Amino acid sequence: MCGIVAYNGIRQTVPILIDSLKRLEYRGYDSAGIAVFNGNAVEVHKDKGRIVDLEKILPAISGTIGIGHTRWATQGRPNKVNAHPHTSGRIAVVHNGIIENYQQLRDWLTKSGYVFISETDTEVLAHLINHYYDNNLTDAVMTALKDIKGSYAVAVICGSELVAARKDSPLVIGIGEGENFVASDIPAILNYTRKVIFLDDLEVASIAQDHVSIFDTHKNAVQKTIHLIDLDIRDAEKSGYEHFMLKEIHEQPRAFHETLAGRISELEGIIKLDGLNLTEDEIKNMSRINMIACGTSFNAGLLGKYLFEQSTYTHIDVEIASEFRYAHSSPGSLVIVISQSGETADTLAALREAKSSGCMTLAITNVMGSTITREVDSVVYTRSGPEIGVAATKTFISQLCVLYLLSLYFGKVQGKINSDRMKRMLASLKQIPAQMTRILNNKELIKNYAQKFASSNDFFFIGRTFNYPIALEGALKLKEISYIHAEGYPAGELKHGPLALITKDVPVIAIATKGATYDKMVNNVKEVKARDAYVLAIADEKDNEIEKYVDAVIRVPATEEMFSPMLSTVVVQLISYYIAKARNCPIDQPRNLAKSVTVE
Ligand code: M6R
Repeated sequence: MCGIVAYNGIRQTVPILIDSLKRLEYRGYDSAGIAVFNGNAVEVHKDKGRIVDLEKILPAISGTIGIGHTRWATQGRPNKVNAHPHTSGRIAVVHNGIIENYQQLRDWLTKSGYVFISETDTEVLAHLINHYYDNNLTDAVMTALKDIKGSYAVAVICGSELVAARKDSPLVIGIGEGENFVASDIPAILNYTRKVIFLDDLEVASIAQDHVSIFDTHKNAVQKTIHLIDLDIRDAEKSGYEHFMLKEIHEQPRAFHETLAGRISELEGIIKLDGLNLTEDEIKNMSRINMIACGTSFNAGLLGKYLFEQSTYTHIDVEIASEFRYAHSSPGSLVIVISQSGETADTLAALREAKSSGCMTLAITNVMGSTITREVDSVVYTRSGPEIGVAATKTFISQLCVLYLLSLYFGKVQGKINSDRMKRMLASLKQIPAQMTRILNNKELIKNYAQKFASSNDFFFIGRTFNYPIALEGALKLKEISYIHAEGYPAGELKHGPLALITKDVPVIAIATKGATYDKMVNNVKEVKARDAYVLAIADEKDNEIEKYVDAVIRVPATEEMFSPMLSTVVVQLISYYIAKARNCPIDQPRNLAKSVTVE
């Protein structure tokens, strides 16, 4: 989605804005622009297309204060006029979010004599700030924002003043020496500073070269904590890999290991989850649990349902966030929201709905300080490091890791998992990173199979129980990055309709690791083989039976049935990656998609 950067300091701003914008490219965008105060006036340069294209049209500009933006079109087409920054008089604005009452404001401002040139809602904000401007930019921004309904993260310049504000859209302020920064995403400014202030909703910041003042809606000064960000800049670089996605797939053993680290003792059979603010009594008496998420995080939640049901014998509901917010949630139940970014608008809206119904709330997320983490009762962090590729990979694995830990912990507290079983499960869980590495070492084989499928138009991924969410995830990955139509199905459901689509031209990936449903899975494989489909099975190393029924097999190390999804995940990710690569697709920035979806 859209990205914001801003700078006020002692250095030339253009190279800093461009470098920071490039670090936001992964979020997905269709146009980009900057505005710089050159000592006399604000110069704006923007265009449709990529940042490298913008760089080509930039004249030499001298100035030490500026704002920049990457736009992902929501209101108005992706073109030069609609690209940000938008201006009104001496004011220039970049904005993420949606102004819901923009039409009323536009009508009113038009009657007051302002002329609109774009189709965007953001231009309303530029004119509104100009309208209220009386030699104090902070006051003008504060007054203008009171008229706005909707969500925003904004950075505004007027002469040598820089002001930023947020509501329901992320924004951080980076603190430097004689220079300060604004960004919608920490990786944008990691090259310059690790000290950040997380702006809260409805706060407005006035950012000078040597100090930052933050105000609440009544213009009272707010004291904020400066956080030291412990991220490695290399996490936001490709480090020799052709794509971030491939790098992040390879980082999964480490991400999984980090997410486990310090949280388990397999010798004692103990799990300790920092950030989980639920008493043992609350866990024992828990009558209902809902998992809520979108996209890949939803697929993690669906696996979470199977895991919790297996460990606690309690029924769990899992729901798509954009639908849950219209559903009934019962007070006293636990709502677990899963979100890599912690900023997904649909998930945030569902969380707020759950809170207002009196539910207890717990987040599983990867981003410290994100909006969701600040609104829930408990947070258990995944520790994947920043994920840049639009397609979620390592964060999915870390989400699964947390769900395994949570479900086992709940089962133990509820007395449904004994100490011996717990020790055995934890010992197996610790083997997972090494087992993933074995699969990664075998990637050439997976690549060879994937290349066979590069010209297919349709695909099926099938699995049962624990493997069904991985079938969904495989199909989602393939759709996102290769643009091939793919379906993820519970294998037993094929005969109720989708089997009509199976022909020799439709490859089927059958996730057929050993477990309680293995025999039924083999029957489902036979059903698709009988319709001439090419079947590639993902199966255990020790399974000597499966090759009789399928065209090809990719082996994964044997583990506990409930842990095998993590290993199959690596395979379906690599299949999708290599198919997309063979089709020459822009893997890290697929069309129409954004890394963090901050609109509903
Ligand atoms: O940040 P979140 O986990 O809340 O994001 C949810 C989805 O937007 C996300 O998983 C999306 O489906 C990914 N592009 C999947 O690869």
